[in-house]
Amino acid sequence: MDKLIIEGAKPLKGTVTISGAKNSCLPILAATLLTDDKCVIKNVPSLGDVFTMLKIMRALGIDTAMKDGVITVKPTTRRNFTAPYELVSTMRASVCVLGPLLAKMKRAEVSFPGGCVIGPRPIDLHLKGIKSLGARLDVKEGYIVAESKRLRGNHVYLGGHFGSSVLATANVMMAATLARGRTVIENAACEPEIVDLAHFLKKMGAKIENIATHRIEIEGVKSLKGVTHHVIPDRIETGTFIIASGITRGDITIKNARPDHLNCVIDKLRESGLSIDTSKNTIKVKYKKPLRPMDITTLPYPGFPTDLQAQMMSLMAVTEGISVVTEKIYPERFIHISELNRMGVDIKLEGPTAIVKGMKKRPSGARVMASDLRASAALVLAGLVAKGKTEISRIYHLDRGYEKIEKKLVSLGAKIWREHE
Ligand code: EPZ
Repeated sequence: MDKLIIEGAKPLKGTVTISGAKNSCLPILAATLLTDDKCVIKNVPSLGDVFTMLKIMRALGIDTAMKDGVITVKPTTRRNFTAPYELVSTMRASVCVLGPLLAKMKRAEVSFPGGCVIGPRPIDLHLKGIKSLGARLDVKEGYIVAESKRLRGNHVYLGGHFGSSVLATANVMMAATLARGRTVIENAACEPEIVDLAHFLKKMGAKIENIATHRIEIEGVKSLKGVTHHVIPDRIETGTFIIASGITRGDITIKNARPDHLNCVIDKLRESGLSIDTSKNTIKVKYKKPLRPMDITTLPYPGFPTDLQAQMMSLMAVTEGISVVTEKIYPERFIHISELNRMGVDIKLEGPTAIVKGMKKRPSGARVMASDLRASAALVLAGLVAKGKTEISRIYHLDRGYEKIEKKLVSLGAKIWREHE
């Protein structure tokens, strides 16, 4: 296992280029299961989660090749419908093969995804949606077994306790593209990654209306064709670099970004005093004066993304005054707090709300452990500003979702390197 070592305290300066969005690539790869043709996906980041998805595709009888950020996907005559436990259990996003597999193959056997360190992540909405399209569903030996000769369009309400669901929307939308008749998804997610997926499906020949709203409508078609698609930039990686510039009092230019996907984050940080200039695909972030404490509540898009909550907490830790974080998507997504506390940061948890007593002095470098992807990013950010050395172990979490993170940080002047534990 690798670990990251960071020697903190240098302001980041320079230009960084954002990679393609992991959370777009994964459902888009699943969507290629809907066709018998070849698809080409561009701007794909080289990441652990993408490699896991490619393994699942191969297990389903699809040939895949990846080179220089381009994935070519080609179905073989050996197609099958079982997504195995060994792979699905390592990545929850793999459950989004259920809808396309069922729609195309008439049967899907997908291992039930397991628990998750960021809290409970049920899949009841996925199952409700797929069932309402007329599929017979059963759970056998840990697998969801779904069958249907041809799915039927229906009116589906996909809201849960915590609002819309990103991947349940993806699953039902993909299944509905080949269903007979019209499907309406109420309380659909409208995250940019869902919009990207809908654009991909439309290129394939799907009939989808009201994209980017909470009421998506899909008129089923008989078949879909292979296409080429360029994935959108990763808004969570972008947000992480914006915060990196703020936390290190830096001055960085972020290229290949979509500032319009981060309105809420940019607004919060500007309110706090960070200078952020945006143009179509570029964001310039400059620390000019001490930041003011912040108050954020995570919500479905266009609200503040839960995937940037941990990183914001690291910034709050070095922003003098009391900041508050309320987590409304995953109320237990706070494992990073105990690790940040080890670095001398004062954070208290009261239910789904964290109270951060930001300090003027820098956190102190320490040995910490990454617990999940975004928590790992928060530790890297804290390490960048900490006094002394920070050692982050179990960074395979980080490699699941941030492409070449230490290379990108080094190019901005950070002192960070990888060692084998
Ligand atoms: C997606 O997960 C992302 N993953 C997550 O990113 C992200 O944190 C999450 O959306 C929220 O934005 C991918 O896109 C691959 P949800 P997803 O269903 O779709 C509850 C990262 O770090 N819920 O929108 O699985 C759920 O428990 C990852 O990149 C149900 O109750 O999340 C949560 O409280 C982590 N029943 C809320 O809905 C269901 O059937 C939103 O979750 C499904 C979800």
